Amino acid sequence: MINPTVKEVIARHHQAMSPAIGHYQEIAFEKGDGFYLYDFEGNQYIDFAIGIATCSIGHCHPEVVKAIQDQAAKLIHTSMVGYYLENVEYAELIKQIVPPTLQDGKVLLMNSGSEAVEAALKLVRMVSKRTMILAFSGGFHGRPMGALAATASASVYRKGLSSLLVGVQHAVYPYCYRCPLGHKSKETCDLACVTLIRQILKTTLPADELAGILIEPIAGEFGYIVPPKEFIEELRKICDEAGAALIFDEIQTGAGRTGKMFACEHYSIEPDVLIFAKAAGGGMPLGGFIAKKEIGDKWAVGSHGSTFGGNPLSCQAGKKTLEVIIRDNLVQNASEIGKSIIDKFNNAKEDLPAIGEVRGLGLMIGVELIKSDGSPNTELMKKVLVEAGNRGLVLCKAGESVVRICPPLNITKDIADEAVDIILQIIVDLC
Ligand SMILES: Cc1ncc(COP(=O)(O)O)c(C=O)c1O
Repeated sequence: MINPTVKEVIARHHQAMSPAIGHYQEIAFEKGDGFYLYDFEGNQYIDFAIGIATCSIGHCHPEVVKAIQDQAAKLIHTSMVGYYLENVEYAELIKQIVPPTLQDGKVLLMNSGSEAVEAALKLVRMVSKRTMILAFSGGFHGRPMGALAATASASVYRKGLSSLLVGVQHAVYPYCYRCPLGHKSKETCDLACVTLIRQILKTTLPADELAGILIEPIAGEFGYIVPPKEFIEELRKICDEAGAALIFDEIQTGAGRTGKMFACEHYSIEPDVLIFAKAAGGGMPLGGFIAKKEIGDKWAVGSHGSTFGGNPLSCQAGKKTLEVIIRDNLVQNASEIGKSIIDKFNNAKEDLPAIGEVRGLGLMIGVELIKSDGSPNTELMKKVLVEAGNRGLVLCKAGESVVRICPPLNITKDIADEAVDIILQIIVDLC
């Protein structure tokens, strides 16, 4: 059979499929292998997006492929009709790798990040008998209506729907490089964003109606923004004072991405509910949460469910991925290679004024591109993505002008250097 061209696949896509879903690069991929993707014309690309952090140990990892194949030949699904072992074993593994206060918690498995977010919000509301959630402008938690009520990273997701998105109040995410409250430095702002939350709880959202605070420990979609440690620690205090649950959306940050198994380990606090998806499913549809026992145990039988949630195939892919991450010390690798990537960009930044800030933890790295007046350079970021595709590199964007760097956790220094050199050369050539 003759392969279609990249252009033909894209044209057929637009003919057949809804325009709702955007794409970061105009490339159509036929196959993946390890660190690489291949398009329909046989061109090879280093993958620095890795399915938006889903296939985190590389494409078609042989052990993950085998786990899926073996399971497919044995049992594909029974749904909620009876019990099976694959979701139990997956949940048992999650319990071992989360922070200590969550280890005797309860796991719920769904099919996606958004479903897991919605389930977590439902849980804390039903258990507390309180309705309100505090989330953050800039936060991304998914697009279906329940999760969308919390998502506030771009107005395009909410357009025409705002009046239907209820039960969530937003505070500001501490994007210190461009402080939304106008402060010049996080050293002198006295955590004004925390003061604002306390004010919201005194004036607009009664603290005794607050079921939970939902936050990404690093804001993904908004631009790979790392909040100050003290900010996250203050959120823990606010939740304790209000009797509300602290919910971490670790859908993008979890499973080793930030150089810790979960990003909450970068802070000296633990959440009450930790949501995971993406890499936790090893590229298969899987999302879920673990909730502290005292919350997780209180959900009434039958009050939630999903036909496919936690299906055996996804659980086996996710379990094998997590096992490989642990066995091959990939969390450590993410930390070390991540530091070397950040250093390389920071060194180059001295001669490249278009690079405003380089930030991130582990292999979750954002390079914010700016104009000469310091404002976000969206045009340049878009051109970098197009040119990266032309030069054999797959990349995504985040925020208004951030090049999102999200390679596989098992990336080697040589390949990481090669990809960073491509990006830097593109910036030099375009500026
Ligand atoms: C932090 C975060 N939360 C939630 C979601 C939604 O997950 P899904 O697309 O699997 O529904 C995403 C997806 O990108 C995410 O990055």
